Amino acid sequence: MIAIASETIEQQANRLLEKSIIYYQQKPVGTVAAADSEREALNYDQCFIRDFIPAALVFLIQGKTDIVYNFLLETVGLQKKKRRVDCYEPPIGLMPASFKVESPGNEQDLHADFGDKAIGRVTPIDSCLWWIILLRAYTKATEDLELAQSDNFQEALAFILEICLGPQFEMTPTLLVPDGACMVDRPMGLSGHPLEIQSLFYVALRAAREMLVRNTEGEILVDKINNRLGSLVYHLRDYYWLDLTKLNQIHRYQSEQFGESVVNKFNIYPESIPYWLTEWMPDQGGYLAGNLGPGKMDFRFFSLGNLVAIIGSLTTEEQSSDILNLIEHRWSDLVSQMPIKLCYPAISGLEWRIITGCDPKNTPWSYHNGGSWPVLLWMMMAACQKMGREDLGDRAMAIAELRLAQDDWPEYYDGKNGRLIGKSSRKFQTWTIAGWLLAKLLRENPRYLDLVSFAADTEAIACTI
Ligand code: GLC
Repeated sequence: MIAIASETIEQQANRLLEKSIIYYQQKPVGTVAAADSEREALNYDQCFIRDFIPAALVFLIQGKTDIVYNFLLETVGLQKKKRRVDCYEPPIGLMPASFKVESPGNEQDLHADFGDKAIGRVTPIDSCLWWIILLRAYTKATEDLELAQSDNFQEALAFILEICLGPQFEMTPTLLVPDGACMVDRPMGLSGHPLEIQSLFYVALRAAREMLVRNTEGEILVDKINNRLGSLVYHLRDYYWLDLTKLNQIHRYQSEQFGESVVNKFNIYPESIPYWLTEWMPDQGGYLAGNLGPGKMDFRFFSLGNLVAIIGSLTTEEQSSDILNLIEHRWSDLVSQMPIKLCYPAISGLEWRIITGCDPKNTPWSYHNGGSWPVLLWMMMAACQKMGREDLGDRAMAIAELRLAQDDWPEYYDGKNGRLIGKSSRKFQTWTIAGWLLAKLLRENPRYLDLVSFAADTEAIACTI
């Protein structure tokens, strides 16, 4: 990188963000995932839907709404809308993980990857959820209702809602997904009902409800959403919640209970509580567990799902404060030298072999397995602002600010305390740059929190099983 002595970190971040923009037919449509000339690009030269979110929010705040408009328009065109010919094709409603501008001859085409080219063939289920969340942010920032209410956007929303709310082999309100269906796009034991997807699902449903045109079809979808939201929120607040009181309950659970009104509904065996948690759970604080299924609870702490839960008011006020209390009490484990760990703790040994399939990228305290991801900083700042804990957000920012520009904006950091730049980390990672900028912009202008946050829901149909 050519160092420009007088450039501030903010100016540098803005310059790099500008440089990351992808153009299609002379129009800005997205940003590359990373612009690291020292590493093989693989698919980092593509625009990932999830990676574009912080960049898009920065653009919206800065009034550069055209790139977000173009992105939404092009991605709506990429969404799968035709019945698939064979089972290797994406289902209707799916949004791609990423897209790329190809230039065969004089033409320019957009090529989408629905996971059909991705490493491990992972399905990008979070893409369509993030897409809805971004559409709402765009609508709020521009006050342009027309785009969201146009026929093809209403159709796109309906396709996504159909795939999410349609029939499933399930009797829980959570969304059942395969492993690697979100930011953690490698095997990490996230199949089933991972928190990241559930939090995004909740927020996306609330965003969709705001934007649906209330005609006959729209009303039917709104009813379905309200029904689902009511039980989803109940399920997550109740069954996923972990704090010392709940841990004590699980510790003394009776198992093999049969019948409708049993306490231990999912037959969680007390023996499955990991030893680390009995010491790690603070007296004050709590969090939503990583996953829950029959006979199985993933007790790991996942940052994205917990922070999005706060931002979207999926958790109660008290739970939201408790999550931030936990982050504060376990600062040296979760933040330490770089905000913030994607999950805690890392898995190792036989567990790592079985769960990751011996993935050398996800060794303990690296990458998705306990690595630290600066992109999560904006979600941390947003969650802290929502709960009036700017002190924590500022502490995290101060740590990040010291290192990010100096280290050339890495994708992730390794080590228990996040001191090392990730072993295979890209540099000049766009969402690291945008995530930091967004955190800074949110801090300076708290009213922009509105673009992504939600007040407590009053519309959904309350569920008390
Ligand atoms: C990695 C991350 C994924 C991200 C992609 C591009 O695969 O796990 O979440 O979208 O890189 O940055």
